[in-house]
Amino acid sequence: MRIITAPAAMQGLAAHWQREGTRVGLVPTMGCLHAGHLSLVTRARSLVGQRGIVVVSIYVNPTQFAPTEDFARYPRTRARDARLCRTAGVDAIFAPRDRQMYPKYGTGAFSTFVVEDSLARGMEGAARPTHFRGVTTVVAKLFNLVRPAIAVFGAKDFQQAAVVRRMARDLNFPIRIVVAPICREPDGLALSSRNRYLSPAERAQAVALIQAIRQARQTVRRAARPVLANRLKSELTWLIETRPAARVDYLEFFDPRTLRPVTTVRRGAHLALAAYVGRTRLIDNGRL
Ligand code: PAF
Repeated sequence: MRIITAPAAMQGLAAHWQREGTRVGLVPTMGCLHAGHLSLVTRARSLVGQRGIVVVSIYVNPTQFAPTEDFARYPRTRARDARLCRTAGVDAIFAPRDRQMYPKYGTGAFSTFVVEDSLARGMEGAARPTHFRGVTTVVAKLFNLVRPAIAVFGAKDFQQAAVVRRMARDLNFPIRIVVAPICREPDGLALSSRNRYLSPAERAQAVALIQAIRQARQTVRRAARPVLANRLKSELTWLIETRPAARVDYLEFFDPRTLRPVTTVRRGAHLALAAYVGRTRLIDNGRL
């Protein structure tokens, strides 16, 4: 397994793979890998085949964090990540340094951003106004550096996957965007690198997110007619916030194809939510 840090070296290798006609699958991550990421690696391998190349990028991207967020304390576990990738049969890790991805960032010397201007507006985009601009910019850079045929993203970041897919289409990246299912703990908590911030008491309360999704699904499937979104939002907020450490950031019901909010909820609609459990912000989503 190769570990590449310099963007120019990554680009050179990608050009070489392209000349050879090798199919490349990219799994973009911020590291602190868990079973969810490894399921994306497995998916990438199944798509490019044994003769293809699977690249995992590991980069805690500063431009997708607001100044008040957890960029500085985001867990960085490079040696462990490398071990997990090697065991999972990854061919190459691309782990650039900040100053290489954004030369002289903050001085005005890096000044080009990629903005998806529709799907990125609501939910995570409304709660974290500069977040998706950072995501689409870094993902576009990764696409240009790694030149994959396929890129695999996790469904936990449902809106991110939709935004990236739209960006790839709009900017003519010849890349198939694949979305792999959410991996969950036995009690239903979605796997996330941020789960490690939770104290044991908070960890027990974090199950409230998946319980809210299940409760919404049950309500919608049992109801004789579509359910009012606002009524369901209040019920689920109450359900989550009965846990002393939990506070809802947003809850949204929407059409999964357009991400447009719906005012009445029926089977097939999607629910996405973000909630703080203590100081940790968690997200989850599910089809109803
Ligand atoms: O989902 C993530 O881990 C990040 O948003 C991504 C796609 C790697 C971009 O930094």
